[in-house]
Amino acid sequence: MNLMMKHYQLIPIAAAVAPLASASLYGQSNLNHSCVLSPKLLSCSPPTLHSNASRLLDTCCVETYGGLLLSTQFWSTYTGLEAQGQKLPKDTWTIHGMWPDFCNGSYTQYCDLNRQYDPVPSPNTTNGLRNGTVVPAYKGANVGTFLEKLGKFDLLAYMNKFWINQGAPNTDFWAHEFSKHGTCMSTFDTPCYGPSYVEHEDVVDFFETTILYDQRLPTWGWLSAANVRPSNSTNYTLSEFQSALSKGYGALPYIGCSGPRYNNTVAGAGSRDTGFTVISEVWYYYNVFGHPREGNWIHLNATGSNSSCATTRGALRYLERTPGSLQ
Ligand SMILES: *[C@@H]1O[C@H](CO)[C@@H](O)[C@H](O)[C@H]1NC(C)=O
Ligand SMILES: *[C@@H]1O[C@H](CO)[C@@H](O)[C@H](O)[C@H]1NC(C)=O
Ligand SMILES: *[C@@H]1O[C@H](CO)[C@@H](O)[C@H](O)[C@H]1NC(C)=O
Ligand SMILES: *[C@@H]1O[C@H](CO)[C@@H](O)[C@H](O)[C@H]1NC(C)=O
Ligand SMILES: *[C@@H]1O[C@H](CO)[C@@H](O)[C@H](O)[C@H]1NC(C)=O
Ligand SMILES: *[C@@H]1O[C@H](CO)[C@@H](O)[C@H](O)[C@H]1NC(C)=O
Ligand SMILES: *[C@@H]1O[C@H](CO)[C@@H](O)[C@H](O)[C@H]1NC(C)=O
Ligand SMILES: *[C@@H]1O[C@H](CO)[C@@H](O)[C@H](O)[C@H]1NC(C)=O
Ligand SMILES: *[C@@H]1O[C@H](CO)[C@@H](O)[C@H](O)[C@H]1NC(C)=O
Ligand SMILES: *[C@@H]1O[C@H](CO)[C@@H](O)[C@H](O)[C@H]1NC(C)=O
Repeated sequence: MNLMMKHYQLIPIAAAVAPLASASLYGQSNLNHSCVLSPKLLSCSPPTLHSNASRLLDTCCVETYGGLLLSTQFWSTYTGLEAQGQKLPKDTWTIHGMWPDFCNGSYTQYCDLNRQYDPVPSPNTTNGLRNGTVVPAYKGANVGTFLEKLGKFDLLAYMNKFWINQGAPNTDFWAHEFSKHGTCMSTFDTPCYGPSYVEHEDVVDFFETTILYDQRLPTWGWLSAANVRPSNSTNYTLSEFQSALSKGYGALPYIGCSGPRYNNTVAGAGSRDTGFTVISEVWYYYNVFGHPREGNWIHLNATGSNSSCATTRGALRYLERTPGSLQ
């Protein structure tokens, strides 16, 4: 299954809202976004929620409305494109993305169809419903070429190492993350870059900021420190993941599982535990002061559901990667 599909299906609170398909999210001009001069407001603090927020503060300098940020990571065991050299890094979870949820936990997607670079939009409408605006499939040059044109070969190499897709090229996945989520962030809107905005610099900025937070989230190491390591012979319990990651992060992330539901396994026959049994995702929640690029965050517990995994003792598998899938 494609990772992009997985994300959509696992989002717990999906009260998606129809966005504006315009070049500017909140009608900013392209002048004066000198964030050093802006108060370092905390995302999701009351001024950022005000219905007139775009007139009261600089939405280019504080994440507005969508200020409940999530850094998300995957644990997968193969890519499906090993033959083409697309493989997984050793001993680290891989980047999924950075998402701007609304402060109430719902979210929107594909907010600027002028920046639609996703070859396989998922879902294929802006609000996920049949009556939403159709998101056209992108047919142009892949987003990797954007980085090359801007001289970001180091970033491209890093992303090919740590931001890995399953079942389709990495570039499709990066494009999906930017167009579905990045375009909904007020701080990466094109007017924020001023009158001499260079096409796709917002894409680079979003990718770099996603990496900034991901680098601070050593999921593999936090688990390993608690002796929770990938194993094809030993099972684990959800609470072991929760305590290791809460200790590392200082707040409880959302932990996602795939695979069979516990009640559909032989061991779980007749059980009321319908959680999934194969560890596959983690989502870290936070708010940020000022522009997300500045990296001043405060950690939050997962809001809404904190897991899709089985809770029965010893019900979870944290699988070892397929040797041929490793870089
Ligand atoms: C930009 O800032 C200048 C100096 O404060 C001000 O005169 C001007 O009205 C501002 N323009 C916009 C569009 O905010
Ligand atoms: C928002 O701004 C408009 C125009 O200035 C004003 O008429 C309206 O009362 C403001 N709304 C709120 C909730 O302050
Ligand atoms: C959540 O917040 C967003 C942005 O403020 C708003 O558009 C949406 O209607 C809210 N959703 C719910 C379910 O309250
Ligand atoms: C969107 O996807 C659904 C489910 O795959 C499909 O039935 C529908 O025809 C698609 N709509 C458009 C406009 O492509
Ligand atoms: C779209 O469909 C949903 C669910 O059927 C409905 O609640 C909503 O009002 C519709 N929106 C529009 C703009 O027709
Ligand atoms: C397991 O739970 C799921 C979800 O509630 C349900 O659809 C399925 O039928 C259950 N399986 C069994 C064997 O009862
Ligand atoms: C997270 O939840 C725990 C347990 O309920 C609580 O003790 C802690 O204060 C919460 N942390 C944050 C950052 O809200
Ligand atoms: C996760 O959420 C469940 C259901 O709301 C709750 O019972 C459980 O205590 C939470 N786990 C932690 C570690 O906070
Ligand atoms: C490990 O977990 C899987 C999925 O819940 C289960 O089917 C299997 O029986 C478990 N194995 C052991 C040794 O507990
Ligand atoms: C571990 O098990 C998974 C699932 O069966 C398999 O894909 C993977 O290759 C195995 N890894 C090793 C090192 O055997």
